[in-house]
Amino acid sequence: MPDIQITPYASPYETMTVSAYIDAFSGAPWFDVWEPQWVADRLTWLNSVPNATSLVALDKDQVVGGLFGYAKPYKGRLDFEIAELFVTQAWQGQGIGKTLIAELDRLPQGKDINVVHLLTARDSTSETFYQRLGFTRNDRLGFLIKRRPSRSNGSITGKGCGGLRQRFFPIATSPSDR
Ligand SMILES: CC(C)(COP(=O)(O)OP(=O)(O)OC[C@H]1O[C@@H](n2cnc3c(N)ncnc32)[C@H](O)[C@@H]1OP(=O)(O)O)[C@@H](O)C(=O)NCCC(=O)NCCS
Repeated sequence: MPDIQITPYASPYETMTVSAYIDAFSGAPWFDVWEPQWVADRLTWLNSVPNATSLVALDKDQVVGGLFGYAKPYKGRLDFEIAELFVTQAWQGQGIGKTLIAELDRLPQGKDINVVHLLTARDSTSETFYQRLGFTRNDRLGFLIKRRPSRSNGSITGKGCGGLRQRFFPIATSPSDR
């Protein structure tokens, strides 16, 4: 494990965190395309919700990964949702993702967290990563969506959407894709 420091996210880290996010999700298994402003909006929002936990992994003063999530009350305890977890491609496979998740046990509200949950791509390297850390698929629950037309031209576009739509229903990246 390299000499990585895990620290709370703060606005001075924004530019580096946005770059790290774009780098991580441009690789396997997502091969996703993100505009910096979309990422900035999403991370700013995630950092502002009640019970948010936002962490970055630093190599010296460089952001190489992050975890953004929040705890929600459920039946007297808390469910923690990992909304974003990412490590830049150059730093993957060195224990940083695992270390970021281990930080959840050290949260002040950690003892009240009953379940940690997340959405990820089925049968992917990311799912394997979570399974190695003890996460299992929930066979009872399904992920439902309903497509909504955009206001501009009646088709789905990438603007103004969150990570899931971007990931599960990638936007056109060139005119020929449209
Ligand atoms: C998924 C991700 C966060 C994992 O972070 P990481 O730092 O590369 O993972 P770690 O080095 O901490 O690996 C932890 C464990 O998972 C295993 N693992 C990690 N990546 C793996 C892969 N691609 N295939 C198989 N196992 C893998 C490691 O071998 C390790 O197992 P061990 O503890 O038994 O040795 C990172 O690869 C990433 O950012 N991917 C792109 C974005 C993404 O998919 N995010 C999560 C989905 S929302």
